[in-house]
Amino acid sequence: MDGNGRWATQRGLSRSDGHRQGAEALKKVIKECSQLGIKVVSVYAFSCENWSKRPKAEIKFLFSLITQFVKKEMKDYVKSGYRVRFSGDLSQLPKATQNAINKVIEASKNNDGLIVNIALNYGSRQEIVKAVNTILQSGIREIDEQMLEDCLYTAGLPELDLVVRSSGEKRLSNFMLWQCSYSELIFLDKYWPDFDEKTVEDILKEYSNRDRRFGGIS
Ligand code: IPE
Ligand code: MG
Repeated sequence: MDGNGRWATQRGLSRSDGHRQGAEALKKVIKECSQLGIKVVSVYAFSCENWSKRPKAEIKFLFSLITQFVKKEMKDYVKSGYRVRFSGDLSQLPKATQNAINKVIEASKNNDGLIVNIALNYGSRQEIVKAVNTILQSGIREIDEQMLEDCLYTAGLPELDLVVRSSGEKRLSNFMLWQCSYSELIFLDKYWPDFDEKTVEDILKEYSNRDRRFGGIS
């Protein structure tokens, strides 16, 4: 979900306004994904790298916004039958955020609708190293792909069919590198706050025209 800051600057608004509008975009996108029958949607909300690379005040604002989103918006997700998951090291998050997260995970754990997976304090390399360490601690000395996958934050989720990056950047920035081995990639110039239902439809149209061969031939 990239481009909140630039979206705001372009309009003479504060970066916080951009993040607020980004949260509005997320509501629209998730609702549309559910309506179109998508099974899992993962969004990159905050990376491990964000901590040291942003002003303290912005980080504080982001976590108050995220906590509010989890408390308010996600209450409706539970009612709508969505299952909420998180990927990342949650132990480093503010206590209020952790509490809100734990509540929504618990309340939605038996739901069978859209899975909403929020990558929060997430980094793909960190995730893989953590998985390997978990395996080593169990005394196993040789691993296979399934074992590693079972120790990722995304355990049990299907691998990514499609990765979409907003705001004109054409890189993955430590996002689910293992899980996106065979993903289709779409890079849009649009800033995240401008994403809406129509954007999701356009993305799916583009995706449906891709020929996924997984190393085979068409
Ligand atoms: C994404 O927008 C915000 C996060 C979820 C961290 P940015 O804050 O990165 O916006 P730009 O890249 O400065 O425009
Ligand atoms: Mg950015």
